[in-house]
This record gives sequence, structure tokens and C-alpha cells, in this order.
Amino acid sequence: MKRIGDNMTGHTSPEGFRHLVGPDRVHRDLYTDPGVYAVEQARLWTHAWVYVGHESQIPAVGDYYTTEIAGQSLIMLRKSPQEVTVLMNRCAHKGSQLVHEREGNCGKMLRCPYHAWTYRLDGSLLSIPLKNDYEGTNLSSCPSGKGLSSPGASMNYRGFVFVRISEDGPDFTSYFGEALATLDNMVARAPDGELSVLGQPLRSRIDCNWKLYLENVNDTVHPISTHESAASAAKEVAQNLPENGDTVLAMEQLLPFGAGYSFYSEMGARVLPHGHSVLGTKFSIHTGYAPLQDYQMELEASHGQEAAQQILQFSPQNTVLYPSLAAKASPMILRVLRPLAVDRTLVEIWAFAPKNAPARLRQRAASYARLVFSPMSVVAHDDVHLFESQQRGLLCSGNEWLSLHRGYQDSEIGQASASMDSGNNEWVIRNQHRGWLELMGGAA
Ligand code: FES
Ligand SMILES: [Fe+2]
Repeated sequence: MKRIGDNMTGHTSPEGFRHLVGPDRVHRDLYTDPGVYAVEQARLWTHAWVYVGHESQIPAVGDYYTTEIAGQSLIMLRKSPQEVTVLMNRCAHKGSQLVHEREGNCGKMLRCPYHAWTYRLDGSLLSIPLKNDYEGTNLSSCPSGKGLSSPGASMNYRGFVFVRISEDGPDFTSYFGEALATLDNMVARAPDGELSVLGQPLRSRIDCNWKLYLENVNDTVHPISTHESAASAAKEVAQNLPENGDTVLAMEQLLPFGAGYSFYSEMGARVLPHGHSVLGTKFSIHTGYAPLQDYQMELEASHGQEAAQQILQFSPQNTVLYPSLAAKASPMILRVLRPLAVDRTLVEIWAFAPKNAPARLRQRAASYARLVFSPMSVVAHDDVHLFESQQRGLLCSGNEWLSLHRGYQDSEIGQASASMDSGNNEWVIRNQHRGWLELMGGAA
């Protein structure tokens, strides 16, 4: 097992990280070095804005949802009917976690199971046993006397809850910028502006570095080969369906995977600062989904005809909100990444729908999640096999580099945002690594 400093460049310093990210290639240690992973956890994942969850996961006061970011346990908690807060899952007394379930309801207060210190839903200290024994001590001036800690910053953006664990770092809107348009679009697709998660997510642990998964979100050249069997099986089934039958949802969603290189090339893409991107700025494999008449009329009634059409037309293949999130506006799906180790990643697939959405719209998101993103599906198992294969292949000696040369031109260096004609240009992936370098403190 390698340790910090065991590698050829000794890259645990900003200068070292610069050696790992070339203009058109990246070093394999980015994915295989536990030392690099440790610094990522301490630096990148604490300074970036990271997705926690959606407020619809915790509808009632006292509802909570826990997750782990950068090795730190967090509680997303409904503290009032209108307000959600994020607290560190760490008792102010001696550090026990306050809640141990992934989700639940804590009632009117959080009560530590160890010595029964209690906290209000905003995290302030409510009561401690044997209070008199603390008289004359310095507890009240100690952080332990002040209640629960919070992350450096948190933001409930239209129902999507994010945190930045560190006190320092960019503010939320300048960090995500244009990338927020995809979340806006998801909300706009709800006639009454309210979205809801469709139950529990699909969770899978994949034996690969998190960056291999996130790169693939912007990899338009792989479906033609990786998903060839799924696309041809779907085509065969489609040919045997009765003519003029209802569009079969699975076919509608799987057939576009068989599109050729030129389809992906023509969809266009946009790179944004800090590693974010929008793939499929002109159209995507989701653009051709059959219109849902009643839903469309409802949307037109709330937004007006022209605006409703624009909302429905915007359906990029994937928007990356670096580093934790990949979003699809249609079908409404968020993929959430939680690195577990240098070679292990938890992926959560959350399907969404407008509250009171027609059944077909709900089915569209749930069906896509199952068909394409479940590791048991005909699509994702091909991807997962290759992510794990990459992780093993990268350990081979010889070539230490991953090529990201496709479409590279020197003129892209220094361009924080840009649109490109070809969705096949690996700029959208190179851009993730430039975001990585910046968050690791290595940007020039
Ligand atoms: S550790 Fe929580 S009350 Fe003691
Ligand atoms: Fe894939």
C-alpha cells in the first residue's frame, strides 16, 4: 500500500498536484494514490459546495436525514415548517453521534444517547443533567457549552440543500453560477414549483475512484461501444412491438443509447468555472420523449405557453455540479457521489417528480433510474464493470497517464467558461480536473 509521498512526484503539495494534471492528460495517481485521496478529503471536499439532500426528504418538523461528507457525519434537519438546517452529528459534550439512523424524526429536540445532553432543533444547548455541578466551571465559555457545531456554510437552494464544510471558500452562487440553471429547470418543471423525491434512492458501492464515475457522466463516446448490447437488445424488442402502440417507456429511454458518434457530437456542451459543465446544450437523448398533453397544459397555465415550451426544451444530457452532483432535468434525476476510499465510491440515484405530477412523469424518472442507473440494469452494469476495470488497469506499470487529448487546443487554457460545438470534445472532462486542481490549491 502506498503512503503519502511514496509516489514519483511527492504530490501532496499544490506544486505536486500540478504535475498530476496536464493540459490534455492526467496522471494515474489521481485515482490510485491514498495520499492524494487523503488530501482531497481534507481540502477539496471541505472547500467545495457539496450536495446534502432535498428538503422533501424531511417534510415534518423534527425529520432528519444523515449523510457523510469528507469523513464527517452531518444531519439535515427540519427545524421549523419553513426551515431546514444542517448540523454536525457530534455531541457537544464528548463527541458521540446524536443520531445513528440514516433518517427519522427526533421530535422536539435532539437528545444524546450517551449522557442525555439535549439540544433544540436549531442546535443550541437545551439542557444537561446535573447542571449545578457545572456552576463555577468554564463550560459556558467553551465551545462545548454553546451547542452543536454547524458546517462553515449551508444553503437551501430552492429545496436542494448544500454545505461547504470549511469556513473559507467561495459563496454559493458564485461557485455554481450558470450550473444552477439545471436545478432551476427542475423546479420550473413543477407547475406549482414544488418537487419531491420519489422515495428512497438506489444506492450502490462501486470499486473505483469517484473521479472515474464523474468523468463518465461527460463521456459521450462510450455508449456506442459500452452500451452496444443494451441498445441492440432494445432495438430488437422495439421492432417486435405492435405498430401504433403506446410508446413503451423503456424503449423511449433505451433506444437513444444506440445513437451514433455524430448524434453526441452535435448535441454541444458548455464548460463552466470550478469544474461544472452542461453536456447537451442543444439537445440530448432525452429531448425526444413523448409530450404529456395534460402536464404540458398545466405547465402552460402556470408559466405561459412560450416559457413552458422553453422549460421543456431544456433537457441537457447531464449537468455536473462539481464535485458531488450530476443532474438530469428530464427525466428528473440527481446522481450523488460520496467517496468512501481511493478506490471505492458510494453512488446514490435520486428520482424526483413535481408534487401531484401525473403518473407518467413519475414513472419516467423512476423507470430511468432503474433501467439506466441501477447496477442491476442493462446499462449501468456495463459502466460499473468498466469503472472497476479502469481502477485495476491503472495499477499496471508502464504508461502512467490517462489521455484526455480529444478535441484539445491550447486556446482553451485560461477560458473559465466556453461553449463548444462538439459534445465529444473531452474539454468537459479536462474541465473537471482543472476544477480539481483549483480546489486542491494547485491552480496557477
Ligand atoms: S457524549 Fe453526548 S451527552 Fe455525553
Ligand atoms: Fe454509460
